[in-house]
Amino acid sequence: MVKKQCYTTLLKLHQAHHKLCTVGLKKTATQPVFGDGNPKADIVFIGEAPGKKEDATGVPFVGAAGKFLAEMLASIKLKRQDIYITNIVKYRPPENRDPTPKEKIACAPWLYDELNFIQPKLIIFLGRHSMNNFFPDLKIADVHGILIHQKLPHITTEYFLPLYHPAAALYNGSMRETLLKDFKKIPLLLRKIKR
Ligand code: URA
Repeated sequence: MVKKQCYTTLLKLHQAHHKLCTVGLKKTATQPVFGDGNPKADIVFIGEAPGKKEDATGVPFVGAAGKFLAEMLASIKLKRQDIYITNIVKYRPPENRDPTPKEKIACAPWLYDELNFIQPKLIIFLGRHSMNNFFPDLKIADVHGILIHQKLPHITTEYFLPLYHPAAALYNGSMRETLLKDFKKIPLLLRKIKR
């Protein structure tokens, strides 16, 4: 199993997967959007796919959803540098369409390697697409804000927290309230998790 190492090696991991990845999205995206943040983080957030701004900058969650996420992190006294954030697929799908199952499968080894390099205590799914990639039968409306303890194939982390996606909650009053409330549970849930 790969142990926690320094950032340059995680960068090498991303560069190697970018080279190897055969997903068709590579042809239409401007550039890959690697995961970003602290490679020794206790928490990894997983979104769906880069959007327009992420594609232009090469950094995940830098648009409106990213700004909202940064505000929620601040509400629990965390900064982006304290956590790590990545996406299921590392290239922007054209017109921001949902990534196809084939595209998600093509990017899966990259995500698994990335997660096993960091080995976070807790993985937080941002939205149903991210959650359904690991738990295809769950409904986000039923399980948001509830800690899941489950040993999965491919990854070492055993604790997961599904949340609504910040982009979906941004302009929906009740979803926004729910997301803010769920987010506030993170520090306590993290303290409960034993390695
Ligand atoms: N939404 C995502 O799921 N990922 C990003 O990087 C930006 C917006």
